[in-house]
Amino acid sequence: MKTLFDPVRLGRVTVKNRICRSATEDGMCRDGRATPELYAVYERLAAGGAGLVCSGMREVSPTGLYVPSAAVAWHEDLAEELRPTAEAMHENGAVFVVQLVHSGFKARAVSNPLYAPSDYSGVPGVEAREMTREQIRAVTADFAAAARRVRDSGADGVQLHNAHGYLLSEFFSPCSNRRRDEYGGSTENRARFALEVYEAVREAVGDDFIIGIKTNCSDMIEPTISFDECAWLVQTLRERGLDYVELSGGLIPGAEWHGSLDYPPGEGEPPFYASAAELARRVDIPVYSVAGWRDPELMERCLNESGITGISMAMPFIREPDLPNRWLSGDRSPAKCITCHACGRGSGYAVMCQPKPANADSMGRVECVFNRGKAVE
Ligand SMILES: Cc1cc2nc3c(=O)[nH]c(=O)nc-3n(C[C@H](O)[C@H](O)[C@H](O)COP(=O)(O)O)c2cc1C
Repeated sequence: MKTLFDPVRLGRVTVKNRICRSATEDGMCRDGRATPELYAVYERLAAGGAGLVCSGMREVSPTGLYVPSAAVAWHEDLAEELRPTAEAMHENGAVFVVQLVHSGFKARAVSNPLYAPSDYSGVPGVEAREMTREQIRAVTADFAAAARRVRDSGADGVQLHNAHGYLLSEFFSPCSNRRRDEYGGSTENRARFALEVYEAVREAVGDDFIIGIKTNCSDMIEPTISFDECAWLVQTLRERGLDYVELSGGLIPGAEWHGSLDYPPGEGEPPFYASAAELARRVDIPVYSVAGWRDPELMERCLNESGITGISMAMPFIREPDLPNRWLSGDRSPAKCITCHACGRGSGYAVMCQPKPANADSMGRVECVFNRGKAVE
């Protein structure tokens, strides 16, 4: 009988329970570096009881900067910046991984032309150009250098962001990749960039450092990757030493997209769970399922009827950083998050649980996809 609070193994590390805080770009950096507010967020998460805490995404290269308040990983003093957070995690028995990303054609703090697998101009103001091989090699090296700095901080691992329409997933998706060279076309070719990044990062950090990947089971837009392609990528990476996978979905070129779905919260199984269960059947690797998990009873039922290893949540931790401890102490009522999606939108840079903006629709979405970080009238 599996419970949320069983210890699990990721690579050579034991994680104290099956609950993961999924990467959340918290919008609390200045010049790419953590502010006191951001350190406080991670201190609360460290003490809140999650076994695995993933940082918000950190940009590996100035060519991929998402928004001005985004966290970066290219500065030489990254290890010093992350060390207090890594220590706070370890003092509380949590395992800490840092998510690494290049935002590709979602990089809104970068002047055109943006980096992309193929030319793209589908969103007003966005002009993206097909990356050259030299640019691909440079970004690959940036991922490796960033991972080495993360390792030097005392953190336990990195997670590669290959989901939600950021650069690596833009290459994997046939929707955004129309290249005719060895980085486009077949599954192997579209996965080549992610595989090369993985190899470079593994070489940089060694075998005893966790490397995970957040990846899509479907792009939820046509044409999409198939589930078989997702499983092939995970199997191939596992054979090369990947330690865990977090399964998500969704890719909307250029748009504001956090991999959250228009699902009615609390009703039925979460949207990507069936794919996570199937992935755990096919590939012998710890699988975390993300998006829409709110109810601990449902989590434990799904953990027991499938081979998945863990449950990831993002928005519930914005409202309740101590959610695992609440459940551990016996209050097993579902997360208080109502999935209104207002946390990431509408009122300044800082991500926090807040009332829905007045002009938001029922899902908390506001009209302009590029208004993140600006006040909503
Ligand atoms: C404000 C906000 C910021 C997010 N930032 C990231 C991020 O940096 N990296 C990432 O992979 N996903 C990010 N996500 C997506 C979440 O990790 C998660 O996949 C999604 O919210 C669905 O899970 P949930 O229903 O538990 O929130 C973000 C989501 C929100 C709401």
